[in-house]
Amino acid sequence: MNRLQGKVAIITGSGSGIGREGALRFARQGARIAVVDMVKEGGEETVAMIKNQGGEACFIHADMTEPAAVEQAIKSVVQRYGKLDIMYNNAGASSAADGPVHKVSLDEWWRAMRVNLFTAFLGCKYAIPELIRNGGGSVINTASVAALYGSKNGRHAYSASKGGVVSLTRAMAVDYAEHKVRANAIAPTVILTERIRKFFDDPKFMAASGGSNLLGYGEPRDVADLAIYLASDESRLITGVVFPVDSGWSAG
Ligand SMILES: NC(=O)c1ccc[n+]([C@@H]2O[C@H](COP(=O)([O-])OP(=O)(O)OC[C@H]3O[C@@H](n4cnc5c(N)ncnc54)[C@H](O)[C@@H]3O)[C@@H](O)[C@H]2O)c1
Repeated sequence: MNRLQGKVAIITGSGSGIGREGALRFARQGARIAVVDMVKEGGEETVAMIKNQGGEACFIHADMTEPAAVEQAIKSVVQRYGKLDIMYNNAGASSAADGPVHKVSLDEWWRAMRVNLFTAFLGCKYAIPELIRNGGGSVINTASVAALYGSKNGRHAYSASKGGVVSLTRAMAVDYAEHKVRANAIAPTVILTERIRKFFDDPKFMAASGGSNLLGYGEPRDVADLAIYLASDESRLITGVVFPVDSGWSAG
């Protein structure tokens, strides 16, 4: 399958979880992948896995909350591969320190904004000029069901930060359409990454995950396969859309 043949993609946070699965699957569709992660071991492991399956990838060690590092990372990808077609902002995280608005600490509020919204903003800020120079491209941002539906899980800082990602995506879609730069977001429900599986023995986590997952919880490939569609020319008329991968949550 060559749905991304000839394309160059940056996937942030692809040293593990959903991002790694995306990197492996994008590479199988012919894309050259820049794996960006702040954890060196995970990022290098993803690159080795891509090379083992016959793909092309490089690792860039960068913290996506650091503007200079993000700018440099994107420049180095364009220097190496000659262009950028796809910016997939996946890096992000929720935290047990989050809470309802009257309890969450100021530090945790800003941490959530930095890790989820600022990372996506910086990725877009420095990738957009390259996508415009390329004559078009695809931005894929990572939101969450927490951005779309309320639930009694008390993660207000995370919800708000992912809500910001949704709004940023829509605003960008309108302004960059004339350059054929599309911007979409994916809003996953609980996805069973290695990290999430570890919480499964914790009844508090299970109670807090909330929602009605009519088809069960997701796997990283459920997000990665949608991301391939959004990255490819198959979705050339799709921009400004937020796609819930929510196991029927919104219908229930
Ligand atoms: N897993 C889920 O249930 C779920 C549900 C909804 C949304 N999401 C979102 O999907 C994305 C991926 O989640 P995951 O579950 O695969 O997480 P994960 O922890 O398994 O992987 C995240 C990766 O991002 C990297 N990372 C985090 N912050 C970074 C930064 N500042 N700079 C560079 N790299 C950074 C980590 O090192 C890690 O390799 C996140 O944005 C998360 O909020 C996940």
